[in-house]
Amino acid sequence: MKRQSAAKIDTPFDPLALRRVLGRFATGVAVVTAEGGEAGMVGMTMSSFNSVSLDPPLVLFSVARSALSLPVLRGAQGYGISILGHHQEHVSNRFARPLEDKWSGVEVRRGESQVPLIEGALAHLECAPYACHEGGDHEVFIARVLRFSAADGGDPLIFFGGRYRALASGEAGHGQPSHASQGQRP
Ligand SMILES: Cc1cc2nc3c(=O)[nH]c(=O)nc-3n(C[C@H](O)[C@H](O)[C@H](O)COP(=O)(O)O)c2cc1C
Repeated sequence: MKRQSAAKIDTPFDPLALRRVLGRFATGVAVVTAEGGEAGMVGMTMSSFNSVSLDPPLVLFSVARSALSLPVLRGAQGYGISILGHHQEHVSNRFARPLEDKWSGVEVRRGESQVPLIEGALAHLECAPYACHEGGDHEVFIARVLRFSAADGGDPLIFFGGRYRALASGEAGHGQPSHASQGQRP
């Protein structure tokens, strides 16, 4: 896996103000998981998940250097990505905290590559490591998609302005979100 490093760049502005601005970009919510052998399974709620390339099939997610899961993710043979539905806010909250046992009460199955996948999610991807880049206080993981599946229908869990949201309707431009609740991103 390629690793890149970059020189430290000074930030001339308030990081909280920048966070507020970046929070104006609505995202879905995924849980990225990996099997850590003796370290056990790890899983993290991730709004930085995104698509990169169709050929080859690549996706990315960025992991805070402070995340306890980082060492396992760095050494993992594969990653499971579960794209959460709006009914899975409790799952998002569970995997957004550095808990000893994030998994109790969460329905999990193994993918073909043995990565943990969260039942009831809108879509699942099984991925292999492709590249890892330095990204300031995060590390940017690029992963190659090995296989995927998606549920028929279902609304996504959305994160916007530091809160969970739900689609107001199936189409853009129709009114205000019908539901919002506080997220846990530190
Ligand atoms: C909606 C939401 C999105 C998040 N997205 C990310 C992310 O993209 N990258 C990241 O490093 N942490 C993200 N977090 C925070 C992690 O999920 C959280 O720090 C988690 O406790 C890390 O687990 P660990 O320390 O056990 O590895 C997000 C949290 C929430 C609630």
